[in-house]
Amino acid sequence: MSCVQGWPEPIIRVQSLSDSGLDRIPDRYVKPLTERPVVESVVMDEDDKVDIPMIDLAGLFSGDSEIIRATREKVGEACRVWGFFQAVNHGVHPDLMDQARQTWRDFFHQPMEEKQKHANDPKTYEGYGSRLGVEKGAVLDWSDYYFLHYLPSNLKDHTKWPAQPPHHREVVEEYLGEVVKLGQRLMKVFSSNLGLEEDYLQNAFGGEDNGACLRVNFYPKCPQPDLTLGLSSHSDPGGLTILLPDHDVPGLQVRRGDKWITVKPAQHAFIINIGDQIQVLSNATYKSVEHRVIVNPNIERLSLALFYNPRGELLIEPAKELISPENPAMYQPMTFNEYRLYIRLKGPRGKSQVESLKSPR
Ligand code: OGA
Ligand code: NI
Repeated sequence: MSCVQGWPEPIIRVQSLSDSGLDRIPDRYVKPLTERPVVESVVMDEDDKVDIPMIDLAGLFSGDSEIIRATREKVGEACRVWGFFQAVNHGVHPDLMDQARQTWRDFFHQPMEEKQKHANDPKTYEGYGSRLGVEKGAVLDWSDYYFLHYLPSNLKDHTKWPAQPPHHREVVEEYLGEVVKLGQRLMKVFSSNLGLEEDYLQNAFGGEDNGACLRVNFYPKCPQPDLTLGLSSHSDPGGLTILLPDHDVPGLQVRRGDKWITVKPAQHAFIINIGDQIQVLSNATYKSVEHRVIVNPNIERLSLALFYNPRGELLIEPAKELISPENPAMYQPMTFNEYRLYIRLKGPRGKSQVESLKSPR
């Protein structure tokens, strides 16, 4: 299936469009009526008070078994009910978070020639990109991004990471090392919350050298934010996502029934969510939840999404411990490499992929 050659149309950098000062967005970015966001009015309604759970992870490191149990339970409830939560006191140093965000912001504010050196193609997606999916004529999202591999180690290739700004690679290396450690801790918490051996999910992902990639999203200012989206509705195809957003710019919306809840990021918090592979492994005890990104007229937004994934060649299927005659396996085994081709070809499409994988019964 890896017959993808290149992008179907010339790539336009959204940042260049935005910088050109246009006051109407090109038709290519105008979403159908049903997908357009309702851009918040000044009037606060009930929904503005609703937000994803906020969890203080300090309890996990407390050494007190009662506090550890209570913290794990909070994480478990957030995974079951929301598929999303914010985490503070997660063990990643706040200065390192700020440095990582800043060095990526500096990357995107370099001259176009510097960024173009890393222009990506749909074969691996690694590098500087401006679209997801290769369908000719598709309606596009209002964002640019940078995508790179961190794990497994044999996929990490520093020549595919930005060479500038100075110290960029060191900061990104250190940041990813710390965030992956957080991912490992969360995998243990999720496994034991699901009633599995603590190492179950990590082993299912390939052990120590699991998959991990970074997608840095850059959402330029948009003159007509009510007509488009920075990132269309999707669930994350991988295992779990650890997102560092700009804390002072709203953008991420999480689906709750037929409503979209705008997340209000806290300072130095991570936004953590379940991806499709954990939905499959947990036989849908945990569900990946649809989310999307809205854009702003006066301010750009940046986010760093670390996708903590299974190794690409492993078959992922519901844990045997979680299936029984009353609770049969809901999904057929599939490798993550095969799984991720769907979003890479078609672009973000809600939860259509994981839904379509349900075992026929
Ligand atoms: C993603 C994503 C959200 C954001 O990269 O998959 O959902 O706020 N990003 O940028
Ligand atoms: Ni996402």
